[in-house]
This record gives sequence, structure tokens and C-alpha cells, in this order.
Amino acid sequence: MNINANTTPITGSLPGPAAPSPDNNTHPSALRGMRVLTIRGVTKTYGSGDTAVDAVRAVDLDVASGEVLLMMGPSGSGKTTLLLMLGALLRPTSGSITVPGRDGIDVDIAAAPEKQLPALRAHTFGFIFQDYALLDALTATENIAIAANLAGTTGAAAEQRATELLDRVGLVHRAAARPSQMSGGEQQRVAVARALANDPPVLLADEPTANLDASRGRDLARLLRRLADQDNRSVVIVSHDDRLREIADRVLWLEDGQFSQVAAMAIDPVCRMQVEAAGPTATWNGHEWWFCSNACRQEFLSDPERFTTTTGPLLDQVTGSPDRAAAPDSPPEPLCDQ
Ligand SMILES: Nc1ncnc2c1ncn2[C@@H]1O[C@H](COP(=O)(O)OP(=O)(O)OP(=O)(O)O)[C@@H](O)[C@H]1O
Ligand SMILES: [Mg+2]
Repeated sequence: MNINANTTPITGSLPGPAAPSPDNNTHPSALRGMRVLTIRGVTKTYGSGDTAVDAVRAVDLDVASGEVLLMMGPSGSGKTTLLLMLGALLRPTSGSITVPGRDGIDVDIAAAPEKQLPALRAHTFGFIFQDYALLDALTATENIAIAANLAGTTGAAAEQRATELLDRVGLVHRAAARPSQMSGGEQQRVAVARALANDPPVLLADEPTANLDASRGRDLARLLRRLADQDNRSVVIVSHDDRLREIADRVLWLEDGQFSQVAAMAIDPVCRMQVEAAGPTATWNGHEWWFCSNACRQEFLSDPERFTTTTGPLLDQVTGSPDRAAAPDSPPEPLCDQ
């Protein structure tokens, strides 16, 4: 645990050696905890001369299979620009973005020829957008099948795949519905199913909950968490939505095109919310514990043992992973309103 996160250099890199290339028969996502994305020195400058905007500046980042990575930051800090570059939808000005290719050889998508990019995208990435980006003229099934077509699955096989995925996101009964006939939450689940059409090792989501109410947003967040856990898939989310912290293994803060410092984070043992390790605090059993409010602190002090059997005090938000035992699949409703 990194209590002293304020002195930790921020790179977004995972500790340990680089992942070996998978053998020819191994889907990259089968390698749990392996790096599936390695980003080094990635910069994006829009325009040139006096009007040049450095949207992303020399970013390093590693993404492992099975992890949910949340990137947050103010508007205009470069989140979408970075996500688009990770997904080979936008070419960096400089730097490298390496993914394991299907033949087992690493590919730098920042340098790959344009004609290779559509196939790379189709097999490596699934995209989820704030506005769902479904085609209005097509049914739910057709929206998913058309994505399968991009990777060469066509006809009945594509339809079958679409049906399986609709079942997975709990929407098989809406297979024939068009986007305009579905709720926002349903549309976003269709968009998730579409993102899974080619079983990509990486899902990239830009503000996936922004148009959803609290309950639908939480459902969507849990679905993304399950897709990482059950399939060992990487999920990279950029968002302003604090609720997504609940499902994230790591939270990185992007500011002015670079990852910057975030405070060390802790789990309030009473309400189990993530809180900065900077508020009300108490020492018990050799640990320092942090709380969202004095009310939680008081409740804790009245019977500490009741609250400390399943959770440790700190998460390392910068480079490490939270204690998943402290962040269950179905987090309890916060008890306090902060
Ligand atoms: N196509 C473009 N041409 C020129 N500048 C751009 C372009 N796209 C983005 N920018 C600029 O790059 C910077 C980063 O934009 P980006 O959209 O990546 O931010 P963001 O963090 O996603 O913001 P938001 O939270 O509002 O979605 C901003 O200053 C923006 O104005
Ligand atoms: Mg954005």
C-alpha cells in the first residue's frame, strides 16, 4: 500500500516486467494480468504554430488484462483524445501504443500503416460512447451483427453472435427493437453488446454513464466490471462520473494532457465509500482509517471491530490495485449522504 502517494511519480505504468508475447493460439485476454496495452511517450498536438494545442503530452501507461482503469480529469484535459489514440481512431503526433497482435507479434498502432488499422480496431477494441452511437435504422440485433461483419463474421453466424450477446446483457427480448424504441439504459447495453461483437481484449468507453440516471449508470458500471472479471478483458473508461470509482481497479487523473497527482485513497470502513486519505481519521489496530464524515468516524469508534473484518484502510490509487475484497461486485448503498 502506498500511503505516501503524494511523493509517487505518476506514469500509469504497472510494476513488473513487460508481458511476454502470447503464443499463436492464445487470445491476449487469456493472459490474466498481462499487459495488453503499452503506451510510451504519447503526445497529441492539434493544429500547428500559434494555434497548436497540446492535448496529450508524453503519456506513459500500461493496461493489464482483466483490469478496469478509470481516467478522470477536468473538461479539456485530453481524456477523449487519449482514448481515441488508444483505440487507433486517432494517430498520435509522437510516441508508441503497442498491443499484442493476433499472430502473437506486438504491433505499434501509432506507426501501423493506415490500411492495417480497421482490422486491428475490429479485433482488438470495442468502443462504447456516451451517446451510444447506434444506427437508428437497424434493430438491436442488426446493430451488433454489423460490428461482427467488420471482423469477417457474416450472415447467420453474425446474427447468432448478436443474439448471444443480447442475452448476455439481458436484452434478448428487445432483439427486434430499434434504438428509438429503447430506453437510454437499454441502448447503452446494446452498445456494450456491439462492443463485444468480436470478443476484443480491450473495451474503451468514453463517458458511458453520462446520459444514464443513477440506477442505470450503476447497472452499466457493474456490467463493465463483470466483463472484465468474467472474460479477463481490459476496460478503459474516461469519465467525470465518480460512481465509476466503485468498479475501478485504478483511477488516474489527467490534467492538461498529463497524468497528475491524486491523493491516496481509502475505503471508509463504515459506509464503504472511497474517500481521500485526507479527511476525518482514526487510528485503530495499528492502522489509520479515513472517513467521509465525522458521523462515520463516530460510528466507527463506537465499535471498530464491527467495521474492520473485511476491509483494509488504504487503496493505492496511483499505481496499484484496490483490495477487491473491499470493493465487492455489488457495493452496498452508501449509508451516509456525502
Ligand atoms: N479536433 C480537434 N482539433 C483541435 N483541438 C482539439 C480537437 N479535439 C480536441 N481538441 C482540444 O484538445 C484538448 C483536449 O480535448 P479532449 O476532447 O481530449 O478533452 P476531454 O478531457 O475529453 O474533455 P471533456 O471532459 O470535455 O470531454 C482541448 O483543449 C480541446 O479543445
Ligand atoms: Mg471527452
